[in-house]
Amino acid sequence: MAEMIRVASLDEMTETMAVCLNHRDIPYCVIKSGDTVQAFIAVCPHENKVMNPPLVLDGCLVCPFHKVAFDATSGAVREARNKRLTKGLSPVQTGILAGVVYLQAQIEHQSFAPLSKWQRFIRIFRRFGLRATSLGKG
Ligand code: FES
Repeated sequence: MAEMIRVASLDEMTETMAVCLNHRDIPYCVIKSGDTVQAFIAVCPHENKVMNPPLVLDGCLVCPFHKVAFDATSGAVREARNKRLTKGLSPVQTGILAGVVYLQAQIEHQSFAPLSKWQRFIRIFRRFGLRATSLGKG
């Protein structure tokens, strides 16, 4: 199921600053380039940190944490800065209707939702092969 989410008026957006928004806990960023816009899931694939906001520099979205640069048009990695990345930013469909920019939120985007403290805790437990039922047994 897809939802069209209003981002901003195209006139309000600039080419030097990404618009960031959250929808159902999913962080998105949208950047203007001329009369078009590109949107991405605003989660850096290096360490899955939310880029809020990414820096905009020379046609790139730059992660504020370790400065990996992604192409602002495609999301592909432009400058990895010796970081291990297996992919770039995940693109999101956009549309412009009567001068208003929309992005298309998809149910599959839920996999990018930041983990809660408990979810991280459970993930670490599973990584080490532990189960909650094994706790407390001597
Ligand atoms: S978390 Fe984005 S470059 Fe490291």
